[in-house]
Amino acid sequence: MMIPDVDNDSMVYLNGDYVRLGDARISVLDRGFIFGDGIYEVVPAYGGKPFLMQEHLARLARSLKAVRIDTGKTAADWEHLILDVLTRSGLDTCMAYLQVTRGVAKREHAFPKNCRPTVFCMVSPMQRPDAAQREQGLSAVSMPDERWLHCEIKSVSLLGNVFAKQFAVDAGVDDVLQFRNGHLSEGSSSNIWVVKDQVLRAPVRDHLILEGIRYGFLERLAAQAEIAFESRPITRQEVDRADEILLTSATKEVLPITRLDGRPVGTGTPGPIYARLRTAYDEAIARL
Ligand code: PDD
Repeated sequence: MMIPDVDNDSMVYLNGDYVRLGDARISVLDRGFIFGDGIYEVVPAYGGKPFLMQEHLARLARSLKAVRIDTGKTAADWEHLILDVLTRSGLDTCMAYLQVTRGVAKREHAFPKNCRPTVFCMVSPMQRPDAAQREQGLSAVSMPDERWLHCEIKSVSLLGNVFAKQFAVDAGVDDVLQFRNGHLSEGSSSNIWVVKDQVLRAPVRDHLILEGIRYGFLERLAAQAEIAFESRPITRQEVDRADEILLTSATKEVLPITRLDGRPVGTGTPGPIYARLRTAYDEAIARL
C-alpha cells in the first residue's frame, strides 16, 4: 500500500517488530479502530534527541493508568523503545508518535479479558515554527468547547479535536480557542496562555484540558525569567482584553496568537513576554 504524503519506507514499531510504514497492519477489530479505545503520546526530538522525555514518559504512564491498559512495560522499556525508533529513523528534527490501544477483541463495549494491548510507534519529520510564525504570530477564532469531560486523558478518541481544527481550517485561521461555560479551555491540539499586565496565566490543570508537557515547562521557564505566573480560570472577557495570547504544543513549541476573531490581540504583534519565553525555549533546545 502507498500512503500519500508519508515516507512509506520508514521503519515503524508494531507489537515488537519493525516493519515498513507502508506494510504495517492491524486487525479491523483493534479497539483503537472500533472504539477509539487507546491513548497516545507525541515526543518532539531535536538532533535526534528527545526533548522533555521524562515528562512525556510520566504522562504516558498517567494515560495508561487512566484508561486501565496494562502493558507490563516499565518507564525504562518505553524509553528504550522510543529511543530505538528515533535512532533507526536517522531523522534530526522529528517527533516520535506512540500509540497504545486496548488490543484486538470481539466487538463488545466493556473491557475484554486477556486482551494484549497494541503498541505502535513511528517517527516523522517535524517542521519547527518558521520565521513568519515567530515574527507575525498565528491567527485563531473562538468556538464553544464541545468535547467530553475527560480532556485530561491523552486519548486517541479525538473527534472533538478534529472538528475543532477543521473549524479553524474552514475559517482560514491557524487554530481555535475553545470556551466552555464562559471560560477558556484550550486550542484544538495545544494549550493556550494569556498575558495581562506582565502576568502570564493559563487555565487550571483539570479534566477540561490536556496538561501539555509544555504547560509545566513554560511554568519553569517563566519562573527562571521572573515572569509572574498564575494558573486559574480565565474568562472570555480576559481573553478579549489580553495584551498577549500564546499557544504551546510539542510541534508548535511556543508561538504568539496575534489575531483573534479577526481583531488584533494587544498591539497585534508578538509581545515581550512571548519574546522572553521564546528565547528561553530556543536556549533549552540548544542545550539538549
Ligand atoms: N497535541 N492540548 C491538546 C488537546 C493537545 O492535543 C496537545 C498536544 C496539547 C499540548 O500538549 P504538549 O505540550 O504535550 O504537546 C494540549 C499533540 C502535539 C498532538 O495531538 O499531535
